[in-house]
Amino acid sequence: MRKNIVAGNWKMNNDLSETEDLLAQLKQHLEETPDAKVIVAPSFTNLYHVFQSLADTPIEVAAQNMHQSENGAFTGEVSGKMLSSVGVKHVILGHSERRAIFNETDALLAEKVDAALKNDLQVIFCCGEELEERKNDNHFEVVKKQLSEGLFHISKENWKDVVIAYEPVWAIGTGETASPEQAQEMHAFIRKTISEKFGSEIAAEISILYGGSVKPANAKEIFAKEDVDGGLIGGASLKAEDFLAIVHSF
Ligand code: 13P
Repeated sequence: MRKNIVAGNWKMNNDLSETEDLLAQLKQHLEETPDAKVIVAPSFTNLYHVFQSLADTPIEVAAQNMHQSENGAFTGEVSGKMLSSVGVKHVILGHSERRAIFNETDALLAEKVDAALKNDLQVIFCCGEELEERKNDNHFEVVKKQLSEGLFHISKENWKDVVIAYEPVWAIGTGETASPEQAQEMHAFIRKTISEKFGSEIAAEISILYGGSVKPANAKEIFAKEDVDGGLIGGASLKAEDFLAIVHSF
């Protein structure tokens, strides 16, 4: 069944002691059965610690990236098999920062998606257009291409392990959020695009999250839209109070 999900992408923030502080606050204030599935994505160094610390809570752990190979001579990289072995359940792939700063292409992401699924990781697949692309009215085409080339090679059976996060690049870390209408419009488009290729049942079941300057003040309005099933939260996920307010805005 389609789930409401709120995921915190901590990016390259929080050393071990900051992570412990944040975890303590999250554990103290999270309702026992929140109306949304809650996921946090710490840095690689803290994944196992976070998994252990959250073992008695409903909060699940995601990695922010992974390598497409199982193992080998790839200095500095981390594989899906390694992530699974330390309790990680999800992996964020295709974040715009990975695409823009680390030159990750759609073709590479397709390989990462396969490797993640093979290692029983659920994929949080990010897509979203740059400001220029929206200004040129190209945003639907851009998102369709990202989905088609990075994700649409998977089988129908694999869709149960996929969540999509629409993150317009111009809204990430800028304080400028897409309006609830803009988010709804793109989410409906994404669902329609999935439906055309994989059928309406799969499209109806897939959770599509919105990301980009989500805050306690705007979460409720965005999450109320029919095709918005939650959020991928950056900055506001670093403050327990804000993150939990967003979680509880369903
Ligand atoms: P902000 O919430 O800081 O805009 O970041 C969004 C994001 O990139 C989540 O992956």
